[in-house]
Amino acid sequence: MARTLSEDELLRLIDGLAAGAWTSGEALAAASGVTRAALARRVAHLREWGLEVEAEAGRGYRLLQPLQRLDAARIQAALPVAVRQRLHGPQVLARVDSTNQRLLEAAPAQDPQALLAELQTAGRGRRGRSWRSPFGANLYLSLAWSFAEWPPQLSALSLAVGVACARAVRSAGVEQVMLKWPNDLRVGAAKLGGILIEQRGEAGGHCRVIVGIGLNVAMSEQQAGPLDQPWTSMQAALGDRGAPDRNSLAAALLAELVAALELFEAQGFAPFVADWSRLDAAAGQPVLIESGGNVIEGTGCGIDEQGALIVESQGTRHHLHAGEVSLRLQPRP
Ligand code: BTN
Repeated sequence: MARTLSEDELLRLIDGLAAGAWTSGEALAAASGVTRAALARRVAHLREWGLEVEAEAGRGYRLLQPLQRLDAARIQAALPVAVRQRLHGPQVLARVDSTNQRLLEAAPAQDPQALLAELQTAGRGRRGRSWRSPFGANLYLSLAWSFAEWPPQLSALSLAVGVACARAVRSAGVEQVMLKWPNDLRVGAAKLGGILIEQRGEAGGHCRVIVGIGLNVAMSEQQAGPLDQPWTSMQAALGDRGAPDRNSLAAALLAELVAALELFEAQGFAPFVADWSRLDAAAGQPVLIESGGNVIEGTGCGIDEQGALIVESQGTRHHLHAGEVSLRLQPRP
């Protein structure tokens, strides 16, 4: 009976292929101390993890795209000192069900703590959707934060987090990134990333949030498979400049997130409104809102100081709260 492959064995094989060069099956098998048949089984496993491994007779194997693994030490070293001192981790795992789920189960005493994974087997998105999470292609990051008491504007936290993510993405060169209310990161009409905040009340009136970020970095069409909305990646947005370094990007994202959560804890949503408004993809655009079976067609008029979306329709301004409604940007007639 074939024995179960260990994660370490598969990671060693990934490292052998990471440069993206053709490597003979013989060399790979010898490096792993296994037969060619066993090597083929390992390669099949990598494909199940979402890695695109090409095989060609006479040349061997290669990854379609070179891969740089996430490295907790490198991410930590790239953090501003104040953030490094405050944050536990980050921890990097090769494979998890969901980084949000893992932190929901982790002890709050370690907050703020961050977790990244190369692969999620049950990555989750908003509204009960799943989040495509192939190995090494993107960033899947969660940050757990404990507030001493419930922040009065908690519903606007996801918008503040959107601003933090957009700043990190812009600093990596994707200056055209915008936010689609409440918190999708977009480039043009395509989704670049998403935010899922899960919250828990804790004993003693504390409030704990898990901020989950999924950012498409270099995912290919093949890795994405069919998705229910247009999407893009940072690599596609950066064109000739190529995909960003995921470790640097993770550090930039964590630095922005920690700064944003500290500011939100001290001052609420007000310090984020101006930046959010500058990034608002719906401002002045035709929009369609669905809320509890009702549909409103109107024009996006920004957000209020609570983070509610303002839509003007037939002379009335509606203030809409996240959770109740879904927003679609309409093509201009
Ligand atoms: C969305 O639907 O737009 C939100 C997607 C959030 C995905 C991220 S990936 C890291 C974290 N772990 C999860 O299971 N989900 C979030």
